[in-house]
Amino acid sequence: MTANPTPPARGLAGVTAGRTAICSLAGTLRYRGYTIDDLVTGSFEEVAYLLLRGELPNPADLTAFTTRLQAAASDLPETAIHMLERLATAAPRASVMDVLRTGVSLLGQLACDDGPNQPITAEEIERQTRLAERLIGQGAALLAVWIDLTTSRQPVPWPEKPLAAALLERLRHEPVTAAAAKAFDTTLILYAEHEFNASTFAARTVTSTGSDMHSAVTAAIGALKGPLHGGANEKVLEHLGDIGIPERVEPWLAERFAARRVVMGFGHRVYKQGDVRARLLADVCRRLIRSEGIPKSHLHLEQLADTVEAQMLEQKGLKPNLDWPAARVYHALGLPIQVFTPIFVVARLSGWTAHIIEQMGDNRLIRPLSEYCGPEPRPYPPPAEQLD
Ligand code: COA
Repeated sequence: MTANPTPPARGLAGVTAGRTAICSLAGTLRYRGYTIDDLVTGSFEEVAYLLLRGELPNPADLTAFTTRLQAAASDLPETAIHMLERLATAAPRASVMDVLRTGVSLLGQLACDDGPNQPITAEEIERQTRLAERLIGQGAALLAVWIDLTTSRQPVPWPEKPLAAALLERLRHEPVTAAAAKAFDTTLILYAEHEFNASTFAARTVTSTGSDMHSAVTAAIGALKGPLHGGANEKVLEHLGDIGIPERVEPWLAERFAARRVVMGFGHRVYKQGDVRARLLADVCRRLIRSEGIPKSHLHLEQLADTVEAQMLEQKGLKPNLDWPAARVYHALGLPIQVFTPIFVVARLSGWTAHIIEQMGDNRLIRPLSEYCGPEPRPYPPPAEQLD
């Protein structure tokens, strides 16, 4: 057997696997042509609308869209709530990512989502876009209800507020300041979309078979759960907790490197000179921890984070990715670790569903090839020998 002179790129690194009009990373991060620096001055709703519909909303469109997300979040089917209640008793310590994965799958079954009607007309795209909007609102509601159920809190009605303020209030069970809601909203904008990352590619692959939006999102949530992808933001806080004090940074990193283990929240497959989202959120984080209502103890965590960052750059030449500041923002907002990656899901539902709809609109089955590296062709043993 002759070896392929150009072996396939491991992890498809550097491979262009398709086209998209949703997001580009060339030069800087842009959603539908707008830079991320500009988009963070708006709201998550504005960004989700842009991702799904291709253009920024006018004020009336934005209000109507915000209201539709609120309506979806307020309207979780009874069966879904019963299922969460049963699961909260049977497996209260289950990963919240599993809860969202199962919840979205169940919502698909309840909605009898059998995939797009063919041919894909403008009406069908609008129907899928409305399904996407429902999923964004319902994803947030699934998360809030689960946290209520597993912390013995009485679920309260979904607040009539923009999604960031409403979700943060539901997770905290108390009113939140405007500064806290804005910082949280910024994390949702930054997490909303990122081109052909692993979970989005998983969603597009499922969609390419003609399958339905809920199945594609279920697969995407499974992919996002992994620590090399979305799960990194939870691990960041665990790292900072393990290290504890600035004096421990050097020995902790030395141990980690000796064991050839990565440090979560650093490095990126595409950004080799630093992640623009991490820079933007680091500024937000710095402002947030100095704002009203944030305990002063967070300043110590920030000093620790600065020391790790400086050492990672000096020793490995690696800069932080978005998960590094995001974990610290969520911690400063008083959120428990287990909701960090699920919040990423709520935000990324907008990007995933935009990609699913784009794939539906111009579909060809995603089916790459592999390079075989197993045993040479060999004879199948006669039955007598198999018995020996
Ligand atoms: N900590 C320590 N070393 C790291 C590292 C990290 N966070 N990220 C990359 N490296 C090392 C790699 O081990 C590799 O070392 P080697 O050449 O000795 O084998 C080298 O840097 C180059 O890695 P690279 O090829 O650029 O990584 P990748 O593109 O395959 O992987 C990630 C990208 C994101 C999976 C990787 O950086 C990582 O695991 N980061 C931590 C998880 C994380 O934060 N994920 C969220 C991403 S948004």
